[in-house]
Amino acid sequence: MRIDIITLFPEMFENVLGHSILKIAKEKNIVQYLLFNIREHADNKRCVDDRPYGGGPGMVIKPEPVFNTIEAIEQQTDIRSKKILLTPQGCRFTQAIAKELAKEPYLMLICGHYEGFDERIRMGLDVQEISVGDFVLSGGELPAMVIIDAVVRLIPGVLGDLSSVINESFTDDLLEHPQYTRPAEYRGMKVPEVLVSGHHQKIKEWQRDHAIQRTRERRPDLFEKKP
Ligand SMILES: C[S@@+](CC[C@H](N)C(=O)[O-])C[C@H]1O[C@@H](n2cnc3c(N)ncnc32)[C@H](O)[C@@H]1O
Repeated sequence: MRIDIITLFPEMFENVLGHSILKIAKEKNIVQYLLFNIREHADNKRCVDDRPYGGGPGMVIKPEPVFNTIEAIEQQTDIRSKKILLTPQGCRFTQAIAKELAKEPYLMLICGHYEGFDERIRMGLDVQEISVGDFVLSGGELPAMVIIDAVVRLIPGVLGDLSSVINESFTDDLLEHPQYTRPAEYRGMKVPEVLVSGHHQKIKEWQRDHAIQRTRERRPDLFEKKP
């Protein structure tokens, strides 16, 4: 997968893309990350924003630096990526969307800042608008990193053990069952006996029961989706 990131703050990505699973995916040549600074494609003295028509606080990202950046990439590469526009007004990001995006060969994430994008960016580009939650962040960079992390770990070959993805929360509309590791007793709190019994069938049943119980308690909305 090739992931193009369109941003005013490319430096923000270096640390996140250079560590842990995202770094491993790059080292395994499964994913390529390319950062493009919108500022470098502004017509007018690197000016990327302006005051909103109709008044109001803050500055709005102008259309031409964003269109110029994307058109320059498309001319150079002949690639037409799946474009994601980060906005709190988009559809809420979920594991199901992450799974769909993990199938794409080319992704482009477009990060806003300040008061957001000129509306014509949304209108003129064929984009999927995604929000990472019902809150407002200062920029689209953190949401883009969230999406990249959630997507890249689902690409086959990135994680050593694919079953860790299959059994995770939100797969099958359930939260994951509680997990324990050594020691078997810590400060008087014991690991449930069944988990140390070595009885595989009983362990599976315990895990399934506790996934259901936990989902019912914490996320009844997910639970209600299940037949
Ligand atoms: C301060 S926000 C702009 C909010 C906009 N004025 C509004 O009220 O809808 C600046 C940028 O941060 C990003 N952003 C903020 N919150 C986000 C969220 N929950 N999900 C995705 N992107 C978000 C978007 O790229 C947005 O253009």
